[in-house]
Amino acid sequence: MTGVPAAAVPRHIAIVMDGNGRWAKARHQPRSFGHNAGRKAVREAVESCLREGVQALTLFAFSSENWQRPQDEVGALMNLFVRALDKEVDELHGYGVRLRFVGDLSAFDEPLRRRMQSAMARTADNDKLQLNVAVNYGGRWDIVQASRQAATAVARGELQPDQIDEARLGQWMSLADAPPLDLFIRTGGETRISNFLLWQAAYAEFYFTDTLWPDFDQACLRGAIEDYARRERRYGRTGEQVAATTVQVS
Ligand code: IPE
Ligand code: IPE
Ligand code: MG
Repeated sequence: MTGVPAAAVPRHIAIVMDGNGRWAKARHQPRSFGHNAGRKAVREAVESCLREGVQALTLFAFSSENWQRPQDEVGALMNLFVRALDKEVDELHGYGVRLRFVGDLSAFDEPLRRRMQSAMARTADNDKLQLNVAVNYGGRWDIVQASRQAATAVARGELQPDQIDEARLGQWMSLADAPPLDLFIRTGGETRISNFLLWQAAYAEFYFTDTLWPDFDQACLRGAIEDYARRERRYGRTGEQVAATTVQVS
């Protein structure tokens, strides 16, 4: 346990799981070896979130830009997704995890899509932790697909253009039913968003670490949560205003 009071635990954590390739290279192994090793870190993150009472965990597994990688690496990643789905879903279901894939799933081949749909359907009623896996996801794509839904509603006469506001558009964004994104973590040393959750990260706290994803264990996540819990979230107000409205937890 972190010892962080429940009220200070992030409700929703997102992670850019970066550094698998460098982790493998340091061991003179192919990049796919690093992706494979990253599975253990995923399990540890899920277990930590369950234990700490985090409500939602969103993992960046494959970006819309990752199709540009060498074909054999993309192929290895797709195989890894299939194997992970076949092996891990039972256990996740047993933990009470609701699994969801977010992103443009139409790009994946039929057998993989079917596996994703069936895992989502099977775990749909679970409520211990919402685990969102972002695949073929891009933050800009997400804003575009939400805008397209808004435009469709306008074209059908169901909505006036001036009725489109942040709240309304937000309802069409991926993860609309998840708690607000509190903590955005990136492993692997880079300090960029790489087109992950652009809309949802508007007021997230960022945590960057040099630790490569396969080495990111429960203690690392605990460290990130503790760091988050020490921060003051001001949302445009002054520190004094925040202090005046915050109930002190001793
Ligand atoms: C992240 O690790 C995993 C995916 C993008 C699928 P990388 O493969 O980007 O690892 P590095 O950044 O090359 O070390
Ligand atoms: C972001 O990592 C995508 C995932 C972790 C799935 P990348 O390694 O692809 O990002 P860049 O290329 O360094 O921006
Ligand atoms: Mg990378």
